[in-house]
Amino acid sequence: MNPSLPRQRQEEACQAFLSALHLGIFALRSASSAVDVVELVVRELELNPLFNFGCGSALTAQGTVEMDASIMNGSTRKCGAVSGISTVKNPISLASLVMDKSPHAYLVFDGAEAFARQHGVEIVDASFFITEENVIRLKKEAPLSRPS
Ligand SMILES: *[C@@H]1O[C@H](CO)[C@@H](O)[C@H](O)[C@H]1NC(C)=O
Repeated sequence: MNPSLPRQRQEEACQAFLSALHLGIFALRSASSAVDVVELVVRELELNPLFNFGCGSALTAQGTVEMDASIMNGSTRKCGAVSGISTVKNPISLASLVMDKSPHAYLVFDGAEAFARQHGVEIVDASFFITEENVIRLKKEAPLSRPS
């Protein structure tokens, strides 16, 4: 947890993390593969604005979001990674698709976004990932690096 966050906020994040973990334990008990469970748990966390990836991602100096995600299957050593994602609702699932459905291990920016559309991944407006809290934080942290 980030010790600079207020105590109540840390506790909320901790609760959300534990609840995602329990979802994962439940999925493992119902015999889902470990890689699928990792994807499931990370999807939960990506959609929770309490964490600084997915919805709630730390912002670029321009106030936009560029997300990364990667996943690996320890048995097959296959892996998939994406970077510079701005409209894919769950970047971890796109990384998983790169691993399973492409000859590549790593796709970035426009190529990754095009691959997402080819595979019918859920797309959202880029503003989906931007929280008011992060906009305020960016203004405080880097007031001079923002375009006027
Ligand atoms: C890795 O991939 C294989 C083949 O797709 C699959 O059977 C296995 O369950 C995967 N391993 C994990 C840990 O999920």
